[in-house]
Amino acid sequence: MADRLAERTAAGAPLLFSPLTVADAKLKNRIVISPMCTYACNGDGLATDWHLVHLGKFALGGAAVVCAEATAVEAEGRITYGDLGLWSAAHAAALKPVAAFIKAHGALPAIQIAHAGRKASMQRPWESNGPIHPDGHRPGEPQWPTVAASSVPVGDGWPVPHELSVSEIRSIQRSFVAAALHALDAGFEILEIHSAHGYLAHSFLSPLSNRRDDGYGGGLAGRMRFTLETVEQVRAAWPASKPLLVRISSVDVDGSAEGWQLEDSVALAGELKARGANVVDCSSGGIAGLATADIGPRPLGFRIPYADRIRRASGMLTMTVGLIVHPEQAEGALQAGSADLIGVGREAFYDPFWALHAAHRLGADPTFAEWPESYGWWLVRREALLKQAGAA
Ligand SMILES: Cc1cc2nc3c(=O)[nH]c(=O)nc-3n(C[C@H](O)[C@H](O)[C@H](O)COP(=O)(O)O)c2cc1C
Repeated sequence: MADRLAERTAAGAPLLFSPLTVADAKLKNRIVISPMCTYACNGDGLATDWHLVHLGKFALGGAAVVCAEATAVEAEGRITYGDLGLWSAAHAAALKPVAAFIKAHGALPAIQIAHAGRKASMQRPWESNGPIHPDGHRPGEPQWPTVAASSVPVGDGWPVPHELSVSEIRSIQRSFVAAALHALDAGFEILEIHSAHGYLAHSFLSPLSNRRDDGYGGGLAGRMRFTLETVEQVRAAWPASKPLLVRISSVDVDGSAEGWQLEDSVALAGELKARGANVVDCSSGGIAGLATADIGPRPLGFRIPYADRIRRASGMLTMTVGLIVHPEQAEGALQAGSADLIGVGREAFYDPFWALHAAHRLGADPTFAEWPESYGWWLVRREALLKQAGAA
């Protein structure tokens, strides 16, 4: 499949369907299904058939990379009781069929490892998207204490997190390394460290949440230390042949001089590159509690300029994500040299075959040859039938 696309790209096909090698991984196109929590675990962090079908269908849908949702490195690092976890061999075993299915169907399985920090102990979004009430919410799901860079709550009505000691920081960093090794055992080919959206690592980066006066706070270097040390340690454990991505919030608050700024992200990207990270995944926001899904109306592709600036200033490969809806938008971002990879999130909920539909629309796959054979043979006939009926 990838070889056929490569031939067409050489003949002037869209960049969106050109291959890219990152570390030793060969991505057949530039489309990454963005990590998205589905809160579908049964309270134990173990993957179920839901995760197999949910993520597996994106592999059938033609994306180069399918990234599993924020997966907690410790039980206390979950956002909700429904989150995936990767803190034991049993968690790796449960994820193994997911990674194997994705690989068997032509995509690269990726997983995002995370600690939710002061945004842990939340309810599932459809149950309010706020912190779990001190008296609990569902039976058997009590609130648990949260941790962060400093004892600064997310906002009004949120619990005050415990400020991590240096030995507690080291312990969480060891959990990131252990989770990376479990991800390897589970068969994942790409790893992403979550350092965005107000979760633990981001709470160290942002001056809005980090009030420490030790080596993990203060100026930019101190605030970057937790993320950089974690990346360094994970990189040492995760094979050099396999890509390591880091998701950051390029800015704390879009269009504001408050908090973490784009030039801080440029500096961070340079340091990440020096530590062997392969791609900066350029998201934004989340420090003040709003999930990225809930931010107000934004122009389509509003984060492309972040990926552009970071890519040009740091020389790092970038991924852009956020309201990439139309294939033409994705192609435009690549043609402009703004990003190397395109993250597709909610549009993949709407259309799990987003990548294959984009390939057809942009002319990279006129005959549905890239579709799973079980479907493609019919799509050719469907098109002919619709033409005959005058409905195409
Ligand atoms: C339901 C939902 C869950 C999400 N979970 C995660 C997550 O686990 N990790 C993460 O980094 N971003 C997460 N995000 C953010 C998405 O990965 C993506 O960056 C964001 O939705 C913007 O892209 P989009 O406009 O294509 O959806 C989530 C978004 C949604 C809608």
